[in-house]
Amino acid sequence: MKITVIGTGYVGLVSGVCYAEIGHEVVCVDKDSAKIGMLQAGEIPIYEPGLEKFIAGGRLADRLSFTTDLPSSVRRSELIIIAVGTPPLPNGEANLSYIDGAAQEIAMAMDGYKMIAVKSTVPVGTNERLADIIRSRTDEPFDSISLPEFLREGTAIYDTLHPDRIVIGAESEAAAHKMVELHSPLTDQLMVTDIRSAEMIKYASNAFLATKISFINEIANICEKVGADVLRVAEGMGRDRRIGPSFLKAGIGYGGSCFPKDTKALIQIAGHVDYEFKLLRSVVEVNRDQRFSVIRKLEKCFDGQLAGKTVAVWGLAFKPNTDDVRDTPALEIISRLLDAGVHVQAYDPVATDNFRLLLGREGVSWHGKAMEAASGADALCVLTDWEEFAQVNLGQLQASMKRPILIDGRNVFDEENMLNTGFMYDSIGRPS
Ligand code: UGA
Repeated sequence: MKITVIGTGYVGLVSGVCYAEIGHEVVCVDKDSAKIGMLQAGEIPIYEPGLEKFIAGGRLADRLSFTTDLPSSVRRSELIIIAVGTPPLPNGEANLSYIDGAAQEIAMAMDGYKMIAVKSTVPVGTNERLADIIRSRTDEPFDSISLPEFLREGTAIYDTLHPDRIVIGAESEAAAHKMVELHSPLTDQLMVTDIRSAEMIKYASNAFLATKISFINEIANICEKVGADVLRVAEGMGRDRRIGPSFLKAGIGYGGSCFPKDTKALIQIAGHVDYEFKLLRSVVEVNRDQRFSVIRKLEKCFDGQLAGKTVAVWGLAFKPNTDDVRDTPALEIISRLLDAGVHVQAYDPVATDNFRLLLGREGVSWHGKAMEAASGADALCVLTDWEEFAQVNLGQLQASMKRPILIDGRNVFDEENMLNTGFMYDSIGRPS
């Protein structure tokens, strides 16, 4: 199939690459000519493990190309996939201006039948709105499809090539059939439904996963007070197949470009139909507060006297294997430390440049190695569960620090191992 993907962010780029990988002819379009220039030169504008092997070296060059020319690629394609951003507005609602803009440009370029699928996360009813925009600008025939995306950053290629399910929202049987054909090499878990339900499945799934995280974080907070171990509790809960073991990792809460935005957007969507989503409001509130557990633990270690201390921070990205710092808990934690007069020594394997720009203030020294960041520090806080942190030589780490205080915000270290070191070790939801 000839496919145009509009938007070369995580979703657009990874989807484009994966459709090309399973044999389709894909053009990825973006307005950002610098980004397109990079991609044409075989460079990748985002950090995503595994992506480079598809783009660099021109492995898919015969069927994957990049352009800023939306009209001609739309005309050449049977399927247009919209994967532009829907960043949050100040009130939490999704900003649909990029979606609307894409619809207008598609309509202006159309010269025959097209299937138009939306992969961006959009509120219920957006596909219909989009269809109205297109219909008001062209008489050419088209079918709307909602094609929600469930990939995770850091494992985006794997998730796209091995999805748990693919949800296809379509009113036209013929278009639904074509979408089933297109995706059946990837999975037999294909679900065809109406467009509004497909749009809702995306928000409901992310809201539910966020709920699992906030739930286990509250259980962790209680575990600390009653002397239970949240790791054991999550394992015991997860063995019940109705609960499942995933997304029960306690820590400093979720971040990233999806859960924070989508939970708030769903609260707004409910509000528009006069429904107060009380549970989800609490999920958001719990998540916001959870990140500060690291600060509270530090304050406890220093009797509330943080001013003048040097605190090392390992991990700035919202999760491992990504350089994405959008809504990363590290931002508020480090900002609060700086406000308290702390000097921060920070390290992340790949996200430092992005984080530095995001933070935009002085008071932090940036380091290229984990050990270097910890050197001379009064305490070390682990904020992202990068694999390399669990592998460090704890003896060497302790010797390099001024005081052996380790606050593990992601339960990276094995508690038993820590007992055999001289560290004052505190983690989330485990007896300290
Ligand atoms: C999330 C969903 O997992 C994807 O299915 C969805 O497609 C995507 O949002 C999206 O809407 O685009 P992502 O944000 O890439 O994917 O990352 P996750 O792996 O889900 O992690 C999100 C956050 O939750 C991270 O900050 C992570 O550290 C945190 N988390 C995750 C926990 O604190 N505990 C857990 O048990 C799992």
